[in-house]
Amino acid sequence: SQVLRTLSNGAEIPMLGLGVWQVSDGPECERAVEAALEVGYRLIDTAQAYGNESSVGRAIQSSGIPREEIFLTTKFYPGSRDARVEAEKSLERLGTDYLDLYLIHWPQGGPTWAWPGMEAASEAGLTKGIGISNFGAAELQELLKISQIQPAVNQIQFSPFEYRRALVEACEDAGVLAQAYSPLGTGRHLGHPVVGQIASATGRTPAQVLIRWALQKGLSVIPKSTHKARIEENFAVLDFELDEQSVSALDALDTTNQTADALSQRQKWWS
Ligand code: A2P
Repeated sequence: SQVLRTLSNGAEIPMLGLGVWQVSDGPECERAVEAALEVGYRLIDTAQAYGNESSVGRAIQSSGIPREEIFLTTKFYPGSRDARVEAEKSLERLGTDYLDLYLIHWPQGGPTWAWPGMEAASEAGLTKGIGISNFGAAELQELLKISQIQPAVNQIQFSPFEYRRALVEACEDAGVLAQAYSPLGTGRHLGHPVVGQIASATGRTPAQVLIRWALQKGLSVIPKSTHKARIEENFAVLDFELDEQSVSALDALDTTNQTADALSQRQKWWS
């Protein structure tokens, strides 16, 4: 079963999906996406920079699931020149004629320069929605000043340890859905004792606790795994709820300085 949220462009996005960052192109990626679609995932998140769009495309085709039942995201690599041109190339690799969501992968070169190309991709019908990733609150504000079409989504690293309240609030205030990548801290957070305690107390796994926490914060969440059992486990989070006490205990694990400005400073790793 799916939980959906309506984006600012009117499209519905599943709140839970599969991310394929760091999944090798070829059989590994194909198998992961096939497994996810079999288990019931309907949101697949890839990127030009991941180098695995063709595998994602092949898996979607071989699944036999109608394209319109799948929410497909890819991302513009900001080292490239023109977002519209790159969208066409991504579509070719993905073997489809539209994207559901096309994101600027990170604000390299400044938060605004690629946006006209993103809007052109949208106007040409190459994608239903456009958005951003790894933008801080200040960068989001700058973009909002020049955008004709509003970003629908800001995809950010998000977990109890990277709990970016101010940024999430800035997104909410602007009508931008925040989406969480690396909700498990690329696996690093799974062994934390507090996460483990809550997992035992609720009869769930550490991964399920972390994914559920991000969902309860109102974010769409895209855990990554290449193992079918884990892909299945990560999807089985819609039939339980973390109580207030567990949520507070997880909230307290935050290591980020909670102001949006400090956050956008820390996000400058690409420049
Ligand atoms: P693998 O792909 O080998 O299953 P994140 O989504 O935060 O980036 O985390 C992804 C990492 O966490 C990957 O290394 C993945 O390994 C691992 N992982 C994903 N789901 C689970 C799970 N349910 N249990 C244990 N490890 C997991």
